[in-house]
Amino acid sequence: MPLIAFTSPKGGVGKSTLAAHVAAILHRRGHAVLALDLDPQNALRLHLGMPIDAEQGFLSRLALPQAHAHAPQSWTADVVATPSGVDLLPFGATDPRRATELASRLAADPELLAAPVRDMLGRRGLILVVDTPPGPNAALEALLPVMDLACLVLLADAGSAALLPMVANGHVFGRGTLAARFADRVGVVLNQVRPGQRLSEAVMDSTLRSLGDRLLGAVCADEALAEALAQKRMLLDGGAGAGEDLQLLADQITMRLRLPPPGNVVDTGYKAFSEWGLR
Ligand SMILES: Nc1ncnc2c1ncn2[C@@H]1O[C@H](COP(=O)(O)OP(=O)(O)OP(=O)(O)O)[C@@H](O)[C@H]1O
Ligand SMILES: [Mg+2]
Repeated sequence: MPLIAFTSPKGGVGKSTLAAHVAAILHRRGHAVLALDLDPQNALRLHLGMPIDAEQGFLSRLALPQAHAHAPQSWTADVVATPSGVDLLPFGATDPRRATELASRLAADPELLAAPVRDMLGRRGLILVVDTPPGPNAALEALLPVMDLACLVLLADAGSAALLPMVANGHVFGRGTLAARFADRVGVVLNQVRPGQRLSEAVMDSTLRSLGDRLLGAVCADEALAEALAQKRMLLDGGAGAGEDLQLLADQITMRLRLPPPGNVVDTGYKAFSEWGLR
């Protein structure tokens, strides 16, 4: 089933906030959702309501030298149930040296991560929502071939506007035919939009003009969303402001991926492919 990655060349743009909320909204709508944190900051767990002292993790375990490169089902032991209802594979506690070692291991052997993720995607009806660190990174690279939708999060500011040509010309994930294939799967989300503010409106208009329906959604700047993490709660009930925008973003993702209604998983694939371990 599908893999949705929240990614961005920029840091601090709302990737983790949006990933956690979209995961929880899809869960509330009845989908089976697994969230996966690829960021050594290990923050997705906090957005989903886990206590700060929870140290268990999936990526941090892959960093250990004894991790088995090709034990695709081993991820199941690292899943934690979060108060949001979403199942989570946290990054886990780490330190800078181990995080750097893991990046090198993944660059040399992408299958270390790709094999278990393919196993996750083989579970019928499961939606995988992935949070990533800012900028290029080995973990995201490993998952590009199995990524169905990259929600590229940008702010409604001039720095983000400067990145729009790169999105429009399909060079987000590099150059060449293969990278262009991955770029086809990108949808931009403008976050922290301030309706009525001149610059914010200009960035929205430019994005619409240059990307058309590749603009997946816009989420307004909302104090309630900024406070969600501090208050250990989530904005899941719609309502005005960012709550409504998040529901609409989840709608767009559902439509873009043609997600079947929960509990009504239709197998549209080729039967032989799943027997051969493909999807
Ligand atoms: N729509 C919004 N309105 C107001 N505040 C927001 C909004 N979206 C995110 N924030 C706030 O912006 C900050 C950055 O958000 P977040 O940590 O999700 O970004 P990130 O892209 O995951 O950062 P990093 O690159 O460090 O992983 C947080 O304080 C968050 O509460
Ligand atoms: Mg983050």
